[in-house]
Amino acid sequence: MLKDSRVACETMRSKVMTAEEAIAFIKPGTTIGASGFTGSGYPKAVPLALAAKIKEEADSGRTFRVNLWTGASTGPELDGALAEVNGIEFRMPYQSDTHMRDRINRGEAHYFDYHLSHSTPLVKSGAMGPLHTAVIEVTAIKSDGRLVPSSSAGNNQAWLDAAEQVILEVNSWQNADLEGMHDFYTIAPPPNTQPIPIMKADDRIGSPYMTVDPSKVVAVVETHIPDRNAPFSDPGEVEMKIAANLLDFLSHEVKMGRMPENLFPLQSGVGNIANAVLCGLMDSPFENMTSYTEVIQDGMINLLKAGKLRMASATAFSLSPDMAKYINDHMHEFQDKMILRPQDVSNNPEVIRRLGCIAMNSLIETDIYGNVNSTHVMGSRVMNGIGGSGDFARSASISVFMTPSTAKGGAISAIVPQACHVDHGSQDVRVIVTEQGLADLRGLSPKQRAETIIRNCAHPDYRPALLDYYKRARDVSVGQHTPVILDEALSWHSRFVKAGSMRA
Ligand code: COA
Repeated sequence: MLKDSRVACETMRSKVMTAEEAIAFIKPGTTIGASGFTGSGYPKAVPLALAAKIKEEADSGRTFRVNLWTGASTGPELDGALAEVNGIEFRMPYQSDTHMRDRINRGEAHYFDYHLSHSTPLVKSGAMGPLHTAVIEVTAIKSDGRLVPSSSAGNNQAWLDAAEQVILEVNSWQNADLEGMHDFYTIAPPPNTQPIPIMKADDRIGSPYMTVDPSKVVAVVETHIPDRNAPFSDPGEVEMKIAANLLDFLSHEVKMGRMPENLFPLQSGVGNIANAVLCGLMDSPFENMTSYTEVIQDGMINLLKAGKLRMASATAFSLSPDMAKYINDHMHEFQDKMILRPQDVSNNPEVIRRLGCIAMNSLIETDIYGNVNSTHVMGSRVMNGIGGSGDFARSASISVFMTPSTAKGGAISAIVPQACHVDHGSQDVRVIVTEQGLADLRGLSPKQRAETIIRNCAHPDYRPALLDYYKRARDVSVGQHTPVILDEALSWHSRFVKAGSMRA
């Protein structure tokens, strides 16, 4: 046991062992429910030991693979290490690790990207099969056995409740001041589901601790390993223009009296563009903002520091390594400004609809009618997954999708005649923003949407070809509600696959 052990509970102390000893409880073909959400609060020592064991088995000609359920994406010690040794049979509900992505896209691992708020109820329903082992990182174990959560809430309590056995990683790298920041609330399954009593983003409705049946805990592993999040790239000219276009729109909504001066609670998606928009809000006129979102990113911490954002409710941190270190060193300053909730609460459509959140998510491509693809490149290669974008987009008061108008040095247009994969149907997409401009699609028919998106959002290099396609579609399409040329609609994608560019 570590000298400054954070395992205060006697019963749990008797279960302290090494990660190598703990993995003896994990059998091939079983399902692991791990903590972890966007690089925060995922177990590290146990999966690294498990990956080493899987490799050893493979070297001896034996197959050892597990199914992996998490909150969302994790870090290199979990997704990365297990995928590198080809140890994952089925993965859900979100990933963003390079090795994991490669395994999935090579057809070597099964993956389904459930809406993040759906993963808890799905598992609780029993339809996903049994959860054999929960492997959950915590900050400390109290003397009465309650668990002080780590830097993400995610599906942790759901996995602790559903699992047949539990392995706890107690990570002393996590700041002890995380105690008190979380708000765990359990939603009863239907038909006993009750209204969630969150009336404003800062309402606390549950407990700061997680609980576990001590008889299920088979191992406690002490660690001191940092969370490893990916760095954000500094916002460039394109990202800054996207942010400026969106901020103009929000100012206009306030001026028109459709939104209060401190805006509705903000939801900000993952990735560089979402982070750039948050950076843009630093210089905006908006004060006293709140956020009801999924992840707290660097930009949100800066807004909290500057006092522009009053508080942030989320399920996890998604920070660059520098910001993760900063927050870890200054946790006490943020204790009363942040709430981490389970992901079926942070992403709950009932609450999102009640609060009127502004959903701001990035996309991979949109078609001229505003059907949005957030997940698949060229229709078949998954990038990350839908994450919480669907949870928020459908239920928000305004759902905004943002993107640079081109990708891969201009070889790909983010606005295409037809999306090659659809995650968000046009009804869930109210506003599209690129560096070229913004399309407010509210009140428009498909044809009016197409004209607005092409005119306001498409890159000038692709605008004439999009207009040409749209005009010809109007001439030949069987139906005139959403004109399409069936033989040509996906030709831009096949041109890219064959020739490396969507340009004609
Ligand atoms: N075709 C091919 N590749 C594309 C593309 C397109 N139309 N659009 C973007 N990409 C590539 C970029 O080139 C980049 O690739 P690289 O990593 O090799 O450089 C990558 O996708 C990321 O794009 P980037 O422009 O840096 O944006 P991002 O970091 O903001 O990520 C998404 C964009 C869509 C991948 C990301 O936001 C995501 O996974 N979204 C789905 C989940 C979600 O919305 N969650 C939020 C819920 S709270």
